Amino acid sequence: MKEKVLEIQKKFDEQIKAVKSLKELNDLKVEYMGKKSPVAQLTSMMREVEDKKTFGMILNELRTHISDDLEILKQKLEEEELNKKLESEKIDITLPSNKIKKGSIHPLNRTIEEIEDIFISMGYEVVEGPELETDEFCFERLNLPQGHPARDMQDSFYITDKYLLRTQTSSVQARTMLKYGGEKPIRMICVGKTYRREDDATHSHQFNQVEGLVIDKKENHVSLSDLKGTLEVFMKKMLGENTKLRFRPSYFPFTEPSYEVDVTCFKCKGKGCNLCKETGWIELLGSGIVHPNVLKMNGYDPEKYSGFAFGTGIDRLAMFKYGITDMRYLYQNDIRFLKQFDRRDID
Ligand code: DAH
Repeated sequence: MKEKVLEIQKKFDEQIKAVKSLKELNDLKVEYMGKKSPVAQLTSMMREVEDKKTFGMILNELRTHISDDLEILKQKLEEEELNKKLESEKIDITLPSNKIKKGSIHPLNRTIEEIEDIFISMGYEVVEGPELETDEFCFERLNLPQGHPARDMQDSFYITDKYLLRTQTSSVQARTMLKYGGEKPIRMICVGKTYRREDDATHSHQFNQVEGLVIDKKENHVSLSDLKGTLEVFMKKMLGENTKLRFRPSYFPFTEPSYEVDVTCFKCKGKGCNLCKETGWIELLGSGIVHPNVLKMNGYDPEKYSGFAFGTGIDRLAMFKYGITDMRYLYQNDIRFLKQFDRRDID
C-alpha cells in the first residue's frame, strides 16, 4: 500500500513538472483528485483496510502533497499570466495623442472686438440697444417721418405696425440722447445686429453695424475735422496705416451736411481693380454733422449743442480686412472656413 502511494506521488511529481498553463493544471487536478482519480480509489479502499489509522495518515499526506503542489503552481502560473497581460496592454506614452479640436474666434466677433478696442482707447463708451425696435426710434426720431422716401432704402421686417427688426444702429443714437437727458456730452459707439430684406453675395438679411455719436457743447467745437480725424484713425487701425479716406457729399436724413466715406481698395491698394470697379476706392461709411432736428427731437438744444455721427457695416469691413468674397460665408458656420481665422499662435 505504501508503495502504491509512493508510486502515485512519483508519477504526480513527474507530471506536474510538465504543466505549462492553468488549463493543464486543472486537468492534472481532476486526474489526481477527481472522482475517478487514484486518490479517490485509495479512499474507497479505506473500508477494507485493517490499520485504518496508518492508512488514513498516509492517504492524507498524499492528498496534502498533491494539493499543496497544485496550489503553489497555480499561484505561479496566475502571476505569469497577469504579467503577460500587463506587458501586452502596456501604454506607449511616446505615441502622439489624438488632436484636440480647438475653437477660434469668429471673424465677425474678432472685427467687433477690434472696433471696440479702438474706440475705447479714444475714450468712447460702448452702448447697446434693442434689435426689436420701434418705428419711432428706428426712423421718426432720426428725422425720417412716415412716408419719407429715404425709408425705401431700408426695406424692413415689420413685426407689427409699430415694431420692426432694426434696420440700422442709428436708432441707438436717439436712445442714448434721451438717456443722457439733453445735457451730458456723448461719446459712444454701438455695435449690433441689424436686419433688412435683402440677400446676395454682398448683402445678408442679417448683418452688423457700428454706430458712432459724439455730442458736446458748441463752445467745445466738435467739428467736421474731428469726424475726419476720428474716422481716419478708425480705418487706418482696421485696414492698415496706408489706407486713405475720401469724403464725398451725400444725403442722410439725420445728418447735415452728410458724407459718404470711401477707403482705398484693400485689394489693389488704390490702383483700380474689379473689386473697386476700377476706381481704386471702396464706399464704406456714412457720416455727417448731427441734424438740428435730431438733436431737438431727442432733447438736445441745437443752439447749444452740436456733434457728429457715423455708421458702417461690420460684415463688409470684415470682408475687406480678411479678403472674404461672399458675405454668406460669415453665417454658414462651415468649420473649414472658420478655422482659417484661428490665429492665436500669431496674436
Ligand atoms: N444708418 C446709415 C445706414 O444704415 C449709416 C449712417 C449714415 C449712420 C450716416 C450715421 C450717419 O450715423 O451719420 O445706411
